[in-house]
Amino acid sequence: MKSLLNIESISKKDAHCVAKIESECFSTPFKESDILEYIDNPIWHFFVAKDEGKLVGYISFTRILDECQIVNIATTKKARCKGVGTALINALLDFAKKNGVKKLFLEVRESNASAINLYKKFGFLAVGVSKNHYSLPVENAILMNLEL
Ligand SMILES: CC(C)(COP(=O)(O)OP(=O)(O)OC[C@H]1O[C@@H](n2cnc3c(N)ncnc32)[C@H](O)[C@@H]1OP(=O)(O)O)[C@@H](O)C(=O)NCCC(=O)NCCS
Repeated sequence: MKSLLNIESISKKDAHCVAKIESECFSTPFKESDILEYIDNPIWHFFVAKDEGKLVGYISFTRILDECQIVNIATTKKARCKGVGTALINALLDFAKKNGVKKLFLEVRESNASAINLYKKFGFLAVGVSKNHYSLPVENAILMNLEL
């Protein structure tokens, strides 16, 4: 899939597909209307991954000064383990380097081995735990950082 994969900034017509993946992956998903609002907010950024034009994944993050927080990264179930998540993090790192970002951080459910492995692959370090951070189900968050 990698050779056919295109990573691009989100456009408003992509919000519906991103909301669909959100609802498949997360118990408290963003709705399409939330995503449309965030697209208009200059702090928020989304990159989408398209395989032959079909949206198969996205990453959302915020940037304030020289720090970025990853909000979510997700792919369709069918597209997993084919390098889409890796391509999306690479796009974020390119953005970070071009924009003088010095630190990336995120929270992830402690049971989410796939995501934790993905972040570790890029050098993110676990730096703390936020107890009972998530709901539906209640679960601790692992806090991870990457200094550039
Ligand atoms: C996390 C997620 C985005 C990874 O996307 P992906 O496209 O499957 O990831 P890639 O194929 O690029 O894999 C990159 C690395 O992630 C890790 N990884 C991915 N899937 C994994 C799995 N099922 N088990 C363990 N590690 C896994 C591995 O370290 C992998 O590197 P490797 O291929 O060298 O072993 C995807 O599993 C997903 O959408 N999960 C549901 C949503 C979610 O939980 N998002 C995280 C919110 S914090």
